[in-house]
Amino acid sequence: MALNRQKLAAALQQERKFTYLPFSLHLFETVSSTNQILWEELNSGAEPGCVVIATQQTCGRGQWGRQWMSPEGGLYLSVAIAPKLDATNSYQITLATAWGIARQLRNCGVPVGIKWPNDLVLISIPDIDTKTDLGTADVFNNYKKLGGILTETKVYNGLITQAVIGVGINWANPVPETGINLETWQANQHPKPISSLEMLTSTVLLGIESGIMTLFQEGVNILLSRYLELLTNIGDRVYVDNVAGTIVGVTPQGELRVLLSTSELKTVITPEIYLQPGTISLGYRKSSN
Ligand code: BTN
Repeated sequence: MALNRQKLAAALQQERKFTYLPFSLHLFETVSSTNQILWEELNSGAEPGCVVIATQQTCGRGQWGRQWMSPEGGLYLSVAIAPKLDATNSYQITLATAWGIARQLRNCGVPVGIKWPNDLVLISIPDIDTKTDLGTADVFNNYKKLGGILTETKVYNGLITQAVIGVGINWANPVPETGINLETWQANQHPKPISSLEMLTSTVLLGIESGIMTLFQEGVNILLSRYLELLTNIGDRVYVDNVAGTIVGVTPQGELRVLLSTSELKTVITPEIYLQPGTISLGYRKSSN
């Protein structure tokens, strides 16, 4: 399965309302990892806005050093930016990307939410159909993983000088039980919201651009409030060191805000704690439909 460059360029041009990132597109069928190829291109002088896209990876990288299974038929892409962001705020790039892609897909009619911190999830349609208020957390209860984001950075003097935003989206590739691909979901949609792999690619690229632009032009507080509107985890119960708590938000650094149940607290002064990405797994329900 190969991407058609002309069709992709046409889809991008048709939907683009502003140009914040000068996308220069490098298309491949199979690569080791689009993040790795993009770093190699940056080291050879490629500019911010350089994009590497493939439909198969042999050594896909996931969060926390995991492997990202990348069989043929998926969408795997990486975008380079030069953010000049304090390294302590690096997670903001991932939050902005997640929000931007989720919003862009929702605008096309795909019911996507965000699972903290970096998962794009497809929310099951029966839930949405039977609820009237789309803003409440229980609407988001039934979801499967559609994609993920891995941001890698180069830091100099405490500032991020280069960042590679890597995104994997399940298009037509096989997925585990907790995942879903768009082709399967779209089999019951008439008309199909995303008509081709080129349209999906263009939607994802424009989503990344709008997320990054929102972060750098409107600021992290506005970005965060929009991210939280699409977060599926708000109100969920979690256990931290055997103490029950409720997820109440995310900090500007990307930490999960958990309000511990005060009745169970003996020594903690403030009942709200912040959890770093990677220190707690929120998991997926099995066989959710
Ligand atoms: C996650 O673990 O949820 C994030 C996975 C991110 C995978 C993408 S696929 C394109 C890019 N290239 C990689 O090697 N990884 C990212």
